[in-house]
Amino acid sequence: SLAAPRGPAAVVKHGSILPVSKEVTILYGSQTGNAQGIADNSSKALKEKGYEVTVSSMSDFKPNQLKKLKNLLIIVSTHGEGDPPDNAISFHEFVHGKRAPKLEDLRFSVLSLGDSSYEFFCQTGKDFDKVLEELGGKRLTPRVDCDLDYDEPAAEWLSKVILGLNEAQGETASEAFQEASATLAEEATYSRTNPFHAEVLENINLNGRGSNKETRHLELSLEGSNLSFEPGDSLGIYPENDPELVDLLLEELHWNPEEIVTVNKQGDVAALKQALIANFEITVLTKPLLQQAAQLTENERLHELMSAGHESELKSYLSGRDLLDLVHDFGPWAVSPQDFVNILRKMPARLYSIASSLNANPDEVHLTIGALRYESFGRSRSGVCSILCAERLEPGHTLPVYIQHNQNFKLPANGETPIIMVGPGTGVAPFRAFMQEREETGALGKSWMFFGEQHFVTDFLYQTEWQKWLENGVLTKMDVAFSRDTEEKVYVQHRLLEHSKELFHWLEEGAVLYICGDEKNMAHDVHQTLIGIIENEGSMTHEQAEEYVARMQKEKRYQRDVY
Ligand code: 2AM
Repeated sequence: SLAAPRGPAAVVKHGSILPVSKEVTILYGSQTGNAQGIADNSSKALKEKGYEVTVSSMSDFKPNQLKKLKNLLIIVSTHGEGDPPDNAISFHEFVHGKRAPKLEDLRFSVLSLGDSSYEFFCQTGKDFDKVLEELGGKRLTPRVDCDLDYDEPAAEWLSKVILGLNEAQGETASEAFQEASATLAEEATYSRTNPFHAEVLENINLNGRGSNKETRHLELSLEGSNLSFEPGDSLGIYPENDPELVDLLLEELHWNPEEIVTVNKQGDVAALKQALIANFEITVLTKPLLQQAAQLTENERLHELMSAGHESELKSYLSGRDLLDLVHDFGPWAVSPQDFVNILRKMPARLYSIASSLNANPDEVHLTIGALRYESFGRSRSGVCSILCAERLEPGHTLPVYIQHNQNFKLPANGETPIIMVGPGTGVAPFRAFMQEREETGALGKSWMFFGEQHFVTDFLYQTEWQKWLENGVLTKMDVAFSRDTEEKVYVQHRLLEHSKELFHWLEEGAVLYICGDEKNMAHDVHQTLIGIIENEGSMTHEQAEEYVARMQKEKRYQRDVY
């Protein structure tokens, strides 16, 4: 069934007739690499079917080529408040702008990735879908919006795309679906859908006594996995929920922890308690979850909350609460454990920027994980994966992991290119990998690290390693900002500003600037500071400085790994 589509035919779509073309362009916009992975696999599947496929990041695509495309597939994630990923920004702007061409000859389809716990779920995909139609494009198949567990909907979408492209060839839907799932699953090696159980070799707290922070340094063994990665890549971890939280949930529902439930579509079974620990998400509430929960109870308050006119109330209920709150607040629950777990999302993996180089530490992967603990609605809460690592993960235990390649955060191919690294807090992680790699490969380019944390004495993560790299010349310069050692707060961007002249000089010399860490506050503020520095030092207007940064981004000289 891998036959190539037969010669030109005509397909009727939405009343107009377009000639069948074997050329397919896949454009992806990806922050963490999921959309890119689907794009690459979709390309493989389409090539096997005889299509001529071009895959490209939206940022590498020349918008003046858009007019020439016949079949366009858009695979794009959404992050933050409905924002496009970094490498989709300029294309997103272009198609919404005055220079966007009419696209009457275009057939397209959009696959959007997102997280239904966010208000602007899959917004970027929705934007593209709408604008491509407005520009005159015809849909090959309707847009599909995927939640965190995207494998199956993505495979279904691809099979429908293939059917749409193949309409003249008479392939059946189930054939197309099976092939699409097989290609998307990348069966051969350990992957997101088939994680490797990595042994914990080391697990220590990097912060000193008296710190407000607890940052775990984890070393895992990849021996026997055949997995490989480059600095800048991430590790996906499938964590387990806190057994104590699961106990509270079971008590609240008066359920038998040993009752057997089916945990997935393949029909695997587990005891209820174990299923709630390992297979399902219980710490995040989403609107679709509450909609389904409302079907399982007569509770009037829940029904009211889900009815029209209560949107902002619902939004504020969802934030900072978990499944235990839901179960507690809206009983009675006259349902079977099976019906209940069926409405839960599959446990999603957590991504962490890798903190080591495989060249420097063969068969190992190191991580830098900040323990997340907070209070909300009268109960102490914790980050699922980080607290597992901080409290319940001894050397000798294993964790299910996979490698998530990230083409958006890479050392320059040329070891002589200068690099500037901005990584406060756990944002330090990939830069430790960068330094190990540059030391190992003998790269000669200049490098400049900006690190920030609360206190010098307790929070200078990997201090001795940075000192070593400064001494042996792998690191050229380092500036630190300890925000709570002085009366006035100092942050990394203040250090950037103090060194405006030299920083701009490095940029003019072609340095690549990297930012890793908190997105909402830090990365945003650093970005603004950077534009200010370029404006001043380059004697530019604000707009020119913004263009300068946009150009850097296009040339991959401004890369961000933010969360
Ligand atoms: P703070 O906790 O004193 O506010 C790592 O978390 C470091 O980042 C800490 O020193 C933290 O300071 C600092 N930080 C907090 N908000 C920031 C921002 N908007 N820009 C830069 N650094 C920030």
